[in-house]
Amino acid sequence: MKIYTQDGCLEVGRKAAQLVVAQMICKQKSVLGLATGSTPIAMYEELAEMCEYGDLDFKDITTFNLDEYLGLDKDNEQSYAYFMNTHLFKYINIKKENIHIPSGITKDIKKTCEDYDKAILENGIDLQVLGIGTNGHIGFNEPSDHFEAGTHLVDLDKETIEANARFFESIDEVPRQAISMGIKNIMQAKKVVLIAYGENKIDAIKKMLFGEITPNLPASILQAHGDFTLVIDEEIGDAIKDLLA
Ligand code: GLP
Repeated sequence: MKIYTQDGCLEVGRKAAQLVVAQMICKQKSVLGLATGSTPIAMYEELAEMCEYGDLDFKDITTFNLDEYLGLDKDNEQSYAYFMNTHLFKYINIKKENIHIPSGITKDIKKTCEDYDKAILENGIDLQVLGIGTNGHIGFNEPSDHFEAGTHLVDLDKETIEANARFFESIDEVPRQAISMGIKNIMQAKKVVLIAYGENKIDAIKKMLFGEITPNLPASILQAHGDFTLVIDEEIGDAIKDLLA
């Protein structure tokens, strides 16, 4: 495992962008796994800017997003499809057909999940970017008594609904369910980069790195990934440095 401790959330985003760029330089037809939430926004800004200036080319890039809220369609401002378009896709030269996000308005959830798994398997994710929930979730893999392997329907945790309520007008508007890639989808990525900043992520990061590997803290499975990079700010870095020594 590699850890980069950066000076503030913008630098966390810049380092994560550099890692994505490095991947794209090494393989022109890279398949990227992408995350939403506030954490990767600076990374997307950096990537979008580089593409706008002609320093980065997404024409051969394929993407798979981790998750989508159930019941929200791509034009809903709270959907992750809308988020991705607003923060990245509308600025870059990616082909529409190379963008994959689970449909939040599917009538057949089982088929949507199966098709998503199939597409991930056929393409193979080269680099998966992750954030982390305060409860240790990755994608929308919530704490549970078992790891879900493939793409699946999730009942969102109370903690997740509360944490994500800040993006909605009221907590009642936060969807209670989502479709998420599973742990196997994530673990099969050749490289995983998890980014996090801020005091409220310290506990989850500590448990992820030093706790037991348990579905109760889904991110803990990343201890078993062979190519795992963590990009954090100094606040988290300071909180874990004694444990790393
Ligand atoms: C959501 C997403 C996760 C993300 C998490 C953290 O729940 N499904 O992929 O990691 O939010 O969000 P934030 O970066 O806003 O703290």
